[in-house]
Amino acid sequence: MKLSVIGCGYLGAVHAAAMASLGHEVVGVDVDAAKIDKLAAGETPFFEPGLGEILQAGLASGRLSFTTDMSAAAGAKVHFIAVGTPQRKDGTGADMTYVNSSVEALLPHLGEGDLVAGKSTVPVGTAQRLSELVAPTGAHLAWNPEFLREGFAVKDTVEPDRLVYGVSDTTGETDTATLDEVYATAIGAGTPRLVTGYATAELVKVAANSFLATKISFINAMAEIAEATGADVTQLADAIGHDNRIGRRFLNAGVGFGGGCLPKDIRAFAARAEELGKGESVAFLKQVDEINLRRRQRVVDLVTHSFDDHVNGHRVAVLGLAFKPDSDDTRDSPALDVAVRLKGLGADVIAYDPEAIPNARRAHPQLAYADSLDDALQGAETVVIATEWKAFRALDPVETAQKVARPTIIDGRNILSPADWRDAGWTYHGMGR
Ligand SMILES: NC(=O)c1ccc[n+]([C@@H]2O[C@H](COP(=O)([O-])OP(=O)(O)OC[C@H]3O[C@@H](n4cnc5c(N)ncnc54)[C@H](O)[C@@H]3O)[C@@H](O)[C@H]2O)c1
Repeated sequence: MKLSVIGCGYLGAVHAAAMASLGHEVVGVDVDAAKIDKLAAGETPFFEPGLGEILQAGLASGRLSFTTDMSAAAGAKVHFIAVGTPQRKDGTGADMTYVNSSVEALLPHLGEGDLVAGKSTVPVGTAQRLSELVAPTGAHLAWNPEFLREGFAVKDTVEPDRLVYGVSDTTGETDTATLDEVYATAIGAGTPRLVTGYATAELVKVAANSFLATKISFINAMAEIAEATGADVTQLADAIGHDNRIGRRFLNAGVGFGGGCLPKDIRAFAARAEELGKGESVAFLKQVDEINLRRRQRVVDLVTHSFDDHVNGHRVAVLGLAFKPDSDDTRDSPALDVAVRLKGLGADVIAYDPEAIPNARRAHPQLAYADSLDDALQGAETVVIATEWKAFRALDPVETAQKVARPTIIDGRNILSPADWRDAGWTYHGMGR
């Protein structure tokens, strides 16, 4: 099937390459010429395991192309909208500028019976509004939220754990059949597929992210109580996680969640609920957000306490800048935020991340960045683990102690064994343990 993907960022570039890998003919369209040039040359504009391979294979097959010219979308049967919906600069709601402008730019190129399939995460009510905009062209609209996880984006796109189609009452059957054809491989493999109305599909995505954010903030709230009582939140999580109704996944206390999705999605959801007169129903999301942000300050406090509250001029190595491992995404990253706050307090911060330094440097040129993990550790008086990259998990406490000036470590992700590090002479502080 001929497809277009409008917006080629973390979601769109992966979606375009993955759809081509499934045999579709795909054109990716973006307004960012530098990004399009890279993608067209087979270079990934961001770090995502496995993307380079399917991107290059797609280009070589002739089934995948990229352009800044929206007219290239003409003739595609399905047009996926994958542009950004960041937090508004003047509030907590979603900035819909990119969704609105991309759909408007697409309108002249739509044909009778085309399907516009929204993938971006949007406030409930958006699909209904856009469907009215699209209707005069004879095209239909569906909302098909995306659940991919950065770091696993290729696998999650090719083998999703579920498919959700939000369709209209009038053209729903036809549009479901069209999407089934797009996702024939996943459907053939037995992937659950739920067909809903627009509002449900839009809400599924923000509800899922709200639940995940709440789960993380729940365990971080327990970490705060553990810190006040001498309990160990990791053991607590292990113990409650054995209950299948609770489950152990996403129950790791630490410096909290970040990235281009969870923080802005829960804020946008709360803002939309307010507009609907239902702010009360999701008022807890404000606390989820507050608990999350407090954990960043907790890490900063642990570092300053390690210098008797005088961090000025002291060498602090911050390991990790991406919001999660296997990604170079630093949007709303707790790791980067911790580095910036410490720098603001006068610490001599040296930051390192296996992939995210270029993005971090663009946003925060005032920080010093190390070329290697070893360079970051050399002479550090306090080491902070801020992102749970494998390389940091694998650090040997005895060898690492030889490199630093003072063996003090703040394990902001609870990935190290406190006993092993203490035995090797380290002063170890975890989160809630
Ligand atoms: N990143 C994820 O893990 C993820 C997962 C699920 C859902 N989402 C949702 O997907 C959407 C996109 O997220 P992202 O992380 O890919 O964002 P991103 O910022 O990486 O990419 C958005 C892209 O859209 C492009 N764009 C903006 N206006 C455009 C226009 N008018 N025409 C064409 N292209 C345009 C931008 O240049 C950019 O390349 C968001 O709504 C997000 O919440 C993201």
